[in-house]
This record gives sequence, C-alpha cells and structure tokens, in this order.
Amino acid sequence: MSASERPSDRPSERLAERPSERRAAARTAVVWDALRPLLEQSGPLDVLDIGGGTGGFAVRVAELGHRVTVVDPSPDALASLGRRARERGVEVAGLQGEVSSLLDVAGADSADLVLCHGVLEHVGDPATALGVLREAVRDGGTLSLLVAQRHAAVLARAMAGHFGQALALLEPTVDPGRAGHRYTSDELVALLATADLHVEQVHGVRVFADLVPGTLLDLEPGSTAALVELEKAVATRPEYLPLATQLHVLAR
Ligand SMILES: C[S@@+](CC[C@H](N)C(=O)[O-])C[C@H]1O[C@@H](n2cnc3c(N)ncnc32)[C@H](O)[C@@H]1O
Repeated sequence: MSASERPSDRPSERLAERPSERRAAARTAVVWDALRPLLEQSGPLDVLDIGGGTGGFAVRVAELGHRVTVVDPSPDALASLGRRARERGVEVAGLQGEVSSLLDVAGADSADLVLCHGVLEHVGDPATALGVLREAVRDGGTLSLLVAQRHAAVLARAMAGHFGQALALLEPTVDPGRAGHRYTSDELVALLATADLHVEQVHGVRVFADLVPGTLLDLEPGSTAALVELEKAVATRPEYLPLATQLHVLAR
C-alpha cells in the first residue's frame, strides 16, 4: 500500500481498507472536505443528522467528539445505527421521526450543524422541508445539504441505453416516483433562498467517481487517492456541477 493510500487515523479522512470502502471514500471525500473545517476546528458541536439512516456519517462525526443525534423514519436503520455506534465505541442518539416532525422530535434551534444528506429527494414539499431545517439550525449554525443532481442522472441513463428514462428526466416532475426529486444547481440555490437560507458553498460530488470502473480502483495502486484528488479539484468549478451525481451545499 502506498503512503497516499494508507488509511488516516482521522475518522473524516479514513481511506479505505476494503474495495467497497475505497469506492465509498471516493464518493464522500468532497463532502468530508467541506465539513472538515467545521468539525475539526470547533469544540464539541450539537449535530443533527436528519435522515441519517444507518449512521455512515453520524458515527464518524461522533468519533470526532461531537454530540450527534440521528432522526430517521426507519426503525431498521436506527437499529443498524445503534450497532454501528456500539462497534465504534461512540454514542449517537437515534430518534424516530422525519423532516415534517423534526421540530417536535428534536426541537427548534437544536443544532450547530444540521446534516440533510440524501433526503430532500424524498420529501413531498422541499421548500417547506428546508424551512423546517432552517428552524432546527441555531443562529450562526450551518446546514449541510446533499441532493441528487439531475443532469448527471440524464447522462447516466443515456449512457446505459435507457433513452426513454433519460428523456423523462430532462425536466423536473411533480411526482418523480421512488427515485425521488433531482435538482440542478440553480434550482437548489433558488429553493434555499425561498427558505431564507444563504448559500455559502456549492460543491459537485461524484463528478467522476460513478463513471470509473470499480475494478480500476480495486486493482490499480494509488488510483483511489488520485481520484479523490481529482474530485476535490473539480468540486468547486461551476463547469463541472452539471456532471456531478450529487450537489453539496453549505448554507446558513
Ligand atoms: C439515501 S438514505 C441517506 C442516508 C444518509 N443520510 C447518508 O447520506 O448515508 C435516505 C434516508 O432518508 C430517510 N428518509 C426518507 N424519507 C425521510 C423523511 N421524510 N424525513 C427524514 N428522513 C427520511 C430514509 O429512511 C433513509 O435513511
């Protein structure tokens, strides 16, 4: 293993012992990079992970010494979260709820950092949901929002030969089905503005990571670290945002 692929001791930088972990690391590196200044330069924060699922993010944030609460509608996900936290030797509170009940479950002004990753795709009224998230963030706090980006989904469907599906994805739909809503960068920024949230940073996430054959990362020494470096290099370049599988926004 080369020095550049040796796993870091820091939870937010831990790269990848197994192939599946290497691919996951390549997909999440840009988000961790954006959050690192908040998570590693502040004292213990109250972090609320809405739709935090099985705790892939939440547990690592707890390992950095923060007080983390996951709110998720799925009892199974919360049970897995509990197991993952125990295995890592950290405490993460798991509460059953969803965005619409968030203020009842966790309270208003309850977090310095609210994570909402992979959830806005699945809510019926995203503008109202963002209003709830804003209420949950304390003054001076931050919302970290990660959503699916529409143009990349069109490209992926077309490249797989699913031309009809690609065509159907070109425009936003009121009822997108199980796949959920996808957003362009402009749509997302406009939506955040309607909720009175000020966008501080926009990042393109997984610009190349989903296009690279998995076997390349498995077999080519140093390729994961090189891919991560490339992902970070293009993440804030506006011309690459339409190619990103996901958009990450930090807003206040
Ligand atoms: C794609 S997973 C994302 C999990 C995690 N945030 C991550 O980034 O790995 C979506 C999660 O959102 C949860 N979810 C679905 N609808 C929700 C809602 N209306 N409010 C809050 N969470 C919801 C699901 O139970 C699931 O755990």
